Amino acid sequence: MLDLVNVEYDTLIPNNVNLSKDKRVQKALEKWHPGYINWWNDLIPQDFQNSLVYLRTAVSVDPKGWAKFDYVKMPEYRWGILLAPEVEDRTIPCGEHYGEKAWQEVPGEYRAMLQRLIVIQGDTEPGSVEQQRFLGKTAPSLYDMRNLFQVNVEEGRHLWAMVYLLQKYFGRNGREEADDLLIRSSGSEEAPRMLGAFNEETPDWLSFFMFTYFTDRDGKMQLESLAQSGFDPLSRTCRFMLTEEAHHMFVGETGVGRVIERTCQVMNENGITDPYDINKIRSLGVIDLPTIQKKLNMHYSLSLDLFGQEVSTNAANAFNSGIKGRYMEHRLDDDHKLGDATYPVTQLEDDKIVLKDMPALTAINMRLRDDYRRDASGGVGRWNKMMAKMGVEFEMKLPHEAFNRDIGVFAKKPFDPEGTLLGETEFNEKSKDWLPTSSDADFITSLMVPCVEPGKYAGWIAPPKVGIDNKPGDFEYVKLHIA
Ligand SMILES: [Fe+2]
Ligand SMILES: [Fe+2]
Repeated sequence: MLDLVNVEYDTLIPNNVNLSKDKRVQKALEKWHPGYINWWNDLIPQDFQNSLVYLRTAVSVDPKGWAKFDYVKMPEYRWGILLAPEVEDRTIPCGEHYGEKAWQEVPGEYRAMLQRLIVIQGDTEPGSVEQQRFLGKTAPSLYDMRNLFQVNVEEGRHLWAMVYLLQKYFGRNGREEADDLLIRSSGSEEAPRMLGAFNEETPDWLSFFMFTYFTDRDGKMQLESLAQSGFDPLSRTCRFMLTEEAHHMFVGETGVGRVIERTCQVMNENGITDPYDINKIRSLGVIDLPTIQKKLNMHYSLSLDLFGQEVSTNAANAFNSGIKGRYMEHRLDDDHKLGDATYPVTQLEDDKIVLKDMPALTAINMRLRDDYRRDASGGVGRWNKMMAKMGVEFEMKLPHEAFNRDIGVFAKKPFDPEGTLLGETEFNEKSKDWLPTSSDADFITSLMVPCVEPGKYAGWIAPPKVGIDNKPGDFEYVKLHIA
């Protein structure tokens, strides 16, 4: 346990917000800190608390040298508060205040909206750590275990980032919200996390890779649009978080890629050309490609729900007030106000999917979801190239946006992955081919045995092409047993 009386926050917590000069916020953070440490200690299995993990810690915001790598015990990780450097004369990039000077303080009229957005973002960060809490026990290698913990401590830091904003800019109310972020918990009956995808389980490593590829990518899109905020401290916070988020995308894309690669390798070694020869493929201890596709279907459709309703006045208000921009707002070539502009939105009319031009302001969520789909298809293309190169005839596909949805115009409608509306009965009969079944889950779980010898990998996943921080193949990324 840390000695909180004598904590010199300027040294214990890396920060570039002049914490030692900001007594009020420093005190609030000191008060919040023990609860956070308790949350971490209760969460991460005890054996790993004492392990030395080769982690990167953010120590600066200089894009060229912002992190340093070293062995750290996770409870001693230096969760810092770091904002991207202030951009001189930054202006509000969108909405009715377009071109005005960016806010350094919370604009009173938008206080409630801003606080809500920060709380929702903050709620996702610890949520994902909670979902992934048991995965360390079944890590397919020390390399993967280290990556899991890296993602976890950084999500923890993202929570700090949002808590800092709440405590610095939202007074008593903000402090209460900061406390509540440690009370809600993933999957809890009484106090679940705010968004559905963060209450699902992450029961195995393929789910973890899919989660970091698809769900963290939703996080990236949200951060990208909050990085466009006219409220400058939020923008600067999110811009720095995005540098860390890039690694989470990497873990997801290479993780799924390595699972696919290993399956293809084993199929080739055993002369299996039919990817649907599922029993034979599974008997060789690798995950068949159709099952990987089912996991993809599930995680992608769950992540689409995170974008909310296609047409939303909340989203319109957030944009119009300059609190949240569009993806790459500064690169878009229009008036950034969207007074008369329209945007094509998918709608259901008499059970037919139609594209309808709607006021672009109310279609902000739809647009971000479209940007997300394009962003998410990149890695899928690279996985497909790899399979083709290995001579395996199979293609991963993003399912149609109408498939398996819980939110928006397609919610609860029995669409198949191609976007065809089926009858309820037909859908239920066929859904075992599209979504993981309990027997798929059992099979995947059966493969989840830990492999913790340096340089060794579980049989269902290929080793990475390069090590973290250019370390050699047999590097001991996690020292598990410390005297
Ligand atoms: Fe995050
Ligand atoms: Fe993340």
